[in-house]
Amino acid sequence: MLLDTDALPSVDMSFMNEVHKEEVHIINHLFTALLAYENAPSLDNALVIDALFEKWYKHTVSHFEGEEVKMRESGFPPYAMHKGEHDRVLGEIRDLLEKWKESREPKPLKIYMIEVLPSWLLNHIQTMDTVTARFLKTGISPCNI
Ligand SMILES: [Fe+2]
Ligand SMILES: [Fe+2]
Repeated sequence: MLLDTDALPSVDMSFMNEVHKEEVHIINHLFTALLAYENAPSLDNALVIDALFEKWYKHTVSHFEGEEVKMRESGFPPYAMHKGEHDRVLGEIRDLLEKWKESREPKPLKIYMIEVLPSWLLNHIQTMDTVTARFLKTGISPCNI
């Protein structure tokens, strides 16, 4: 298991907490599949990664869109900052997915999943998602912009 759902910070909107838990489940499945492929790089094991990687990418698109719709509806002031971070990370994941499909080389994804993703996700939830959820709940923006 790469990430523990119990270690996820909780924000003021339950729909966001649910999506974050779903995301971590998919990430953990993908990571397990990646380790299995490293031990036995068969076509079957590669196809499992293909499916889980696509599932994670699609889930991330809808995770981010779900937050962005709520931010637009509520007029969240730092919308552009939060969306910019979503777009940046989505670009990283899309690049990794394309590289994986071209090369079937597990290392770049493994390094990303260990060294970048967990700290990014926890930090993003603790900062931008926390501020966004509080604004959606209370109308108060701690950024004062
Ligand atoms: Fe989020
Ligand atoms: Fe977010």
